[in-house]
Amino acid sequence: TRTVRLAVIPGDGIGPEVVQQAVRVLDAVAASADLLVEKTSFSLGAARYLETGDILTDDDLAAIAGHDAILLGAVGGDPRDPRLAGGIIERGLLLKLRFALDHYVNLRPTVLYPAVPSPLANPGEVDFVVVREGTEGPYVGNGGAIRVGTPAEIANEVSVNTAFGVERLVRYAFAKAASRPRKKLTLVHKTNVLVFAGSLWQRTVDRVSAEFPGVAVDYLHVDAATIFLVQDPARFDVIVTDNLFGDILTDLAGAISGGIGLAASGNINPDGVFPSMFEPVHGSAPDIAGKQLADPTAAILSVSLLLDHLGLGEAAARVTAAVAADVASRGGAARTTAEVGDAIVARLAED
Ligand code: NAD
Ligand code: IPM
Ligand code: MN
Repeated sequence: TRTVRLAVIPGDGIGPEVVQQAVRVLDAVAASADLLVEKTSFSLGAARYLETGDILTDDDLAAIAGHDAILLGAVGGDPRDPRLAGGIIERGLLLKLRFALDHYVNLRPTVLYPAVPSPLANPGEVDFVVVREGTEGPYVGNGGAIRVGTPAEIANEVSVNTAFGVERLVRYAFAKAASRPRKKLTLVHKTNVLVFAGSLWQRTVDRVSAEFPGVAVDYLHVDAATIFLVQDPARFDVIVTDNLFGDILTDLAGAISGGIGLAASGNINPDGVFPSMFEPVHGSAPDIAGKQLADPTAAILSVSLLLDHLGLGEAAARVTAAVAADVASRGGAARTTAEVGDAIVARLAED
């Protein structure tokens, strides 16, 4: 029996609702995979912050870092609460974890499963993965403002791109492309305007591509990439991109592949120095929170990514297959969050 120590961060809004179902699925698959999952739950998020003033203490971080992997629901409280303005929880909790645990690969697969309705008329075979940079770009918080509130205000946000950070991400993306049947990599950037970062990204892709002669390389400006994601998403295999572009493209990717409720992600530290963290692409969805209306599928597919990352490919494939069977049978019927979990757990018991 293999033991996996899992840190669970349900978070805010629909986070706890979807995580509850994801954990049920994990428990269901663990039993037959000879896996013992030791879970520690961390009640972090808006509620704890408002109660105690703490978002993520050094002790919290150290405790989380001592686990083998992390499962996170979503964070971000009531958007109307001025005490939570400026993404204080998102930056202080989610981004802090990504940075502190060196999650430089933000892996976001997009698969349009058979029989799942897409808003696109002719989507074709959609199966691509966005390899989003996770620890640099405009997310580093390297900005500032002067003369705030005056007509002379100047607000700067600086995007940081290091040769080290771009290269390790690009190398991961090439290796990922080489392992996939189509072996195609598309760099998405904005090299016509963001010339300094764009040049670094393009030169890095050109140089690393020499190590992967079997991988075909392509480039798209991010604006044009949004056209192709809607008009011809089947053309994509592996997209490698900057932190912010990747954020935006993956919500679009979710929308074209059956909805944001199906989009899963992994925040990966490929070096294995720190635990990787798995979470739905979506947020805390305050508009539907507490009503059992959230689709837990993205959280459940994040469990599949987690199992895969831990080398438990067979268990991961069982979860994905159970999800694929469930989504294929959905039709238009509305189900609660728990009912979707029930259905997927039942599929696992059958196979
Ligand atoms: P969101 O993803 O929470 O919601 C966007 C829309 O998608 C909403 O209409 C919501 O109801 C719907 N939706 C999201 N997940 C769904 C699901 N599982 N099933 C059905 N519908 C779903 O994005 P937002 O409204 O921009 O952000 C809300 C809060 O979440 C903000 O505080 C934001 O900063 C935060 N956020 C957190 C994360 C994260 O924790 N990883 C990700 C994105 C946004
Ligand atoms: C995501 C989210 C986060 C991001 C926010 C909440 C900081 O949108 O995980 O996609 O921008 O990365
Ligand atoms: Mn996002």
